[in-house]
Amino acid sequence: MKGHMSDKTNAPDVMSVSRRGFLKGFGAGTAATSLLSPLSLREAEAAERGAVGPNEVPLTLLVNGQNRSLNVEPRVTLLDALRNRLDVTGPKKVCDRGTCGACTVLLDDKPVYACSILALEAEGRKITTVEGLGTPERMNAVQEAFVKHDAQQCGFCTPGFVTAATAFVRSHPNATVEQVRAGLGGNLCRCGTYAGMLLAVADAAAQKGGA
Ligand code: FES
Ligand code: FES
Repeated sequence: MKGHMSDKTNAPDVMSVSRRGFLKGFGAGTAATSLLSPLSLREAEAAERGAVGPNEVPLTLLVNGQNRSLNVEPRVTLLDALRNRLDVTGPKKVCDRGTCGACTVLLDDKPVYACSILALEAEGRKITTVEGLGTPERMNAVQEAFVKHDAQQCGFCTPGFVTAATAFVRSHPNATVEQVRAGLGGNLCRCGTYAGMLLAVADAAAQKGGA
Protein backbone atom coordinates (compact mmCIF):
# COMPACT_ATOMS: atom_id res chain seq x y z
CA MET A 1 0.00 0.00 0.00
CA LYS A 2 2.77 2.37 1.01
CA GLY A 3 4.52 1.75 -2.24
CA HIS A 4 1.37 2.56 -4.14
CA MET A 5 0.78 5.76 -2.13
CA SER A 6 4.31 6.90 -2.83
CA ASP A 7 3.91 6.11 -6.54
CA LYS A 8 0.77 8.21 -6.63
CA THR A 9 2.48 11.08 -4.83
CA ASN A 10 5.41 11.09 -7.22
CA ALA A 11 3.47 10.57 -10.40
CA PRO A 12 2.24 14.19 -10.95
CA ASP A 13 5.79 15.51 -10.54
CA VAL A 14 7.17 13.16 -13.15
CA MET A 15 4.33 13.96 -15.51
CA SER A 16 4.59 17.72 -15.03
CA VAL A 17 8.36 17.70 -15.52
CA SER A 18 8.16 15.67 -18.67
CA ARG A 19 5.23 17.77 -19.96
CA ARG A 20 7.13 20.99 -19.25
CA GLY A 21 10.21 19.51 -20.90
CA PHE A 22 8.20 18.49 -23.89
CA LEU A 23 6.58 21.93 -24.25
CA LYS A 24 9.93 23.62 -23.81
CA GLY A 25 11.45 21.44 -26.52
CA PHE A 26 8.45 21.97 -28.74
CA GLY A 27 8.79 25.75 -28.36
CA ALA A 28 12.44 25.63 -29.33
CA GLY A 29 11.67 23.39 -32.27
CA THR A 30 8.88 25.68 -33.41
CA ALA A 31 11.15 28.69 -33.27
CA ALA A 32 13.83 26.91 -35.28
CA THR A 33 11.53 25.44 -37.92
CA SER A 34 9.53 28.66 -38.32
CA LEU A 35 12.53 30.00 -40.23
CA LEU A 36 11.85 27.41 -42.92
CA SER A 37 9.29 27.83 -45.69
CA PRO A 38 6.38 25.33 -45.66
CA LEU A 39 7.99 23.42 -48.52
CA SER A 40 11.42 23.14 -46.95
CA LEU A 41 9.77 22.25 -43.66
CA ARG A 42 8.05 19.32 -45.38
CA GLU A 43 11.32 18.33 -47.01
CA ALA A 44 13.13 18.50 -43.68
CA GLU A 45 10.47 16.32 -42.09
CA ALA A 46 10.58 13.87 -45.00
CA ALA A 47 14.39 13.68 -44.83
CA GLU A 48 14.11 12.94 -41.12
CA ARG A 49 11.75 10.04 -41.89
CA GLY A 50 13.97 8.78 -44.71
CA ALA A 51 11.19 9.55 -47.19
CA VAL A 52 11.74 10.24 -50.89
CA GLY A 53 9.86 12.25 -53.51
CA PRO A 54 7.46 13.71 -54.40
CA ASN A 55 9.54 14.12 -57.56
CA GLU A 56 10.74 11.18 -59.60
CA VAL A 57 13.45 9.01 -58.11
CA PRO A 58 15.72 6.58 -59.94
CA LEU A 59 15.34 2.89 -59.31
CA THR A 60 16.25 -0.43 -60.88
CA LEU A 61 13.78 -3.29 -61.14
CA LEU A 62 14.78 -6.88 -61.84
CA VAL A 63 12.09 -7.91 -64.33
CA ASN A 64 12.15 -11.36 -65.90
CA GLY A 65 15.87 -11.69 -65.25
CA GLN A 66 16.83 -8.27 -66.61
CA ASN A 67 17.78 -5.17 -64.65
CA ARG A 68 15.61 -2.29 -65.90
CA SER A 69 16.41 1.27 -64.82
CA LEU A 70 13.72 3.92 -64.68
CA ASN A 71 12.63 7.09 -62.91
CA VAL A 72 9.26 7.15 -61.18
CA GLU A 73 7.45 9.21 -58.60
CA PRO A 74 7.34 7.25 -55.33
CA ARG A 75 3.53 7.02 -55.59
CA VAL A 76 3.69 4.93 -58.80
CA THR A 77 2.53 1.33 -58.47
CA LEU A 78 4.55 -1.59 -59.71
CA LEU A 79 1.80 -2.26 -62.26
CA ASP A 80 1.99 1.24 -63.76
CA ALA A 81 5.78 1.16 -63.77
CA LEU A 82 5.78 -2.15 -65.64
CA ARG A 83 3.10 -1.21 -68.15
CA ASN A 84 3.71 2.50 -68.71
CA ARG A 85 7.46 2.82 -68.23
CA LEU A 86 8.91 -0.56 -69.15
CA ASP A 87 6.36 -1.69 -71.75
CA VAL A 88 5.78 -4.96 -69.91
CA THR A 89 2.05 -5.23 -70.63
CA GLY A 90 1.30 -8.85 -69.69
CA PRO A 91 -0.05 -7.87 -66.25
CA LYS A 92 -3.40 -6.17 -66.91
CA LYS A 93 -4.96 -3.17 -65.20
CA VAL A 94 -8.61 -3.94 -64.50
CA CYS A 95 -9.83 -2.97 -61.03
CA ASP A 96 -6.62 -1.22 -59.90
CA ARG A 97 -7.65 -1.90 -56.31
CA GLY A 98 -6.55 -5.39 -55.41
CA THR A 99 -9.70 -7.37 -56.11
CA CYS A 100 -9.53 -9.01 -59.55
CA GLY A 101 -6.02 -10.47 -59.90
CA ALA A 102 -5.56 -9.39 -63.53
CA CYS A 103 -2.32 -7.63 -62.55
CA THR A 104 -0.77 -10.63 -60.77
CA VAL A 105 3.02 -10.91 -60.94
CA LEU A 106 5.44 -13.02 -58.94
CA LEU A 107 7.59 -11.16 -56.44
CA ASP A 108 10.38 -13.44 -55.26
CA ASP A 109 8.22 -16.27 -56.68
CA LYS A 110 5.16 -15.33 -54.61
CA PRO A 111 2.03 -14.02 -56.39
CA VAL A 112 1.13 -10.39 -55.62
CA TYR A 113 -1.25 -7.80 -57.04
CA ALA A 114 1.06 -5.41 -58.87
CA CYS A 115 -1.59 -2.67 -58.61
CA SER A 116 -1.34 -2.78 -54.83
CA ILE A 117 2.38 -2.34 -54.22
CA LEU A 118 4.68 0.52 -55.09
CA ALA A 119 7.39 0.16 -57.69
CA LEU A 120 9.85 1.35 -55.04
CA GLU A 121 8.88 -1.55 -52.79
CA ALA A 122 9.81 -4.03 -55.53
CA GLU A 123 13.38 -2.78 -55.94
CA GLY A 124 15.93 -5.47 -55.12
CA ARG A 125 13.39 -8.26 -55.51
CA LYS A 126 12.82 -10.74 -58.32
CA ILE A 127 9.82 -9.74 -60.44
CA THR A 128 8.36 -12.30 -62.84
CA THR A 129 5.51 -11.45 -65.19
CA VAL A 130 3.67 -13.75 -67.57
CA GLU A 131 6.24 -12.82 -70.22
CA GLY A 132 8.93 -14.42 -68.05
CA LEU A 133 7.10 -17.72 -67.55
CA GLY A 134 7.46 -19.03 -71.08
CA THR A 135 7.32 -18.18 -74.76
CA PRO A 136 4.94 -19.37 -77.48
CA GLU A 137 7.68 -21.82 -78.48
CA ARG A 138 8.55 -22.88 -74.93
CA MET A 139 5.44 -22.61 -72.76
CA ASN A 140 5.40 -23.71 -69.15
CA ALA A 141 3.05 -26.49 -68.03
CA VAL A 142 0.25 -24.07 -67.07
CA GLN A 143 0.41 -22.19 -70.34
CA GLU A 144 0.33 -25.44 -72.31
CA ALA A 145 -2.63 -26.67 -70.28
CA PHE A 146 -4.54 -23.42 -70.91
CA VAL A 147 -4.11 -23.94 -74.65
CA LYS A 148 -5.04 -27.63 -74.43
CA HIS A 149 -8.22 -26.94 -72.44
CA ASP A 150 -9.15 -23.81 -74.41
CA ALA A 151 -9.25 -22.03 -71.06
CA GLN A 152 -10.00 -18.48 -72.14
CA GLN A 153 -12.55 -16.32 -73.89
CA CYS A 154 -11.60 -12.62 -74.12
CA GLY A 155 -8.26 -13.51 -72.52
CA PHE A 156 -7.95 -10.34 -70.46
CA CYS A 157 -7.77 -12.20 -67.15
CA THR A 158 -5.55 -14.94 -68.56
CA PRO A 159 -2.06 -13.52 -67.81
CA GLY A 160 -3.02 -13.00 -64.16
CA PHE A 161 -4.54 -16.48 -63.91
CA VAL A 162 -1.55 -18.13 -65.60
CA THR A 163 0.86 -16.31 -63.30
CA ALA A 164 -1.06 -17.11 -60.13
CA ALA A 165 -1.60 -20.70 -61.30
CA THR A 166 2.10 -21.16 -61.99
CA ALA A 167 2.93 -20.28 -58.40
CA PHE A 168 0.07 -22.48 -57.16
CA VAL A 169 1.15 -25.52 -59.18
CA ARG A 170 4.73 -25.19 -57.99
CA SER A 171 3.61 -25.39 -54.38
CA HIS A 172 0.67 -27.81 -54.90
CA PRO A 173 1.68 -30.64 -57.23
CA ASN A 174 -1.19 -33.13 -57.72
CA ALA A 175 -3.76 -30.56 -56.52
CA THR A 176 -7.38 -31.56 -57.04
CA VAL A 177 -9.86 -29.38 -58.93
CA GLU A 178 -11.35 -28.30 -55.59
CA GLN A 179 -7.92 -27.31 -54.29
CA VAL A 180 -7.28 -25.39 -57.50
CA ARG A 181 -10.61 -23.59 -57.09
CA ALA A 182 -9.66 -22.49 -53.58
CA GLY A 183 -6.07 -21.68 -54.54
CA LEU A 184 -7.04 -19.35 -57.37
CA GLY A 185 -9.78 -17.58 -55.40
CA GLY A 186 -7.88 -14.28 -55.72
CA ASN A 187 -8.44 -14.08 -59.48
CA LEU A 188 -11.69 -13.23 -61.26
CA CYS A 189 -12.80 -13.99 -64.81
CA ARG A 190 -15.60 -11.80 -66.09
CA CYS A 191 -16.24 -14.17 -69.01
CA GLY A 192 -16.82 -17.03 -66.57
CA THR A 193 -14.30 -19.40 -68.13
CA TYR A 194 -13.72 -21.12 -64.82
CA ALA A 195 -14.49 -24.69 -65.90
CA GLY A 196 -11.73 -24.76 -68.50
CA MET A 197 -9.26 -22.96 -66.26
CA LEU A 198 -9.81 -25.28 -63.30
CA LEU A 199 -9.26 -28.33 -65.50
CA ALA A 200 -6.17 -26.74 -67.06
CA VAL A 201 -4.55 -25.94 -63.73
CA ALA A 202 -5.43 -29.36 -62.25
CA ASP A 203 -3.90 -30.92 -65.38
CA ALA A 204 -0.73 -28.84 -65.00
CA ALA A 205 -0.56 -29.72 -61.30
CA ALA A 206 -0.84 -33.42 -62.17
CA GLN A 207 2.06 -33.12 -64.61
CA LYS A 208 4.09 -31.21 -62.05
CA GLY A 209 3.47 -33.93 -59.52
CA GLY A 210 4.28 -36.65 -62.02
CA ALA A 211 0.80 -38.12 -61.76
S1 FES B 1 -5.91 -4.73 -61.36
FE1 FES B 1 -4.82 -5.40 -59.63
S2 FES B 1 -6.17 -6.70 -58.57
FE2 FES B 1 -7.34 -5.90 -60.22
S1 FES C 1 -11.52 -14.83 -70.32
FE1 FES C 1 -12.46 -12.87 -70.37
S2 FES C 1 -12.22 -12.09 -68.36
FE2 FES C 1 -11.49 -14.10 -68.24
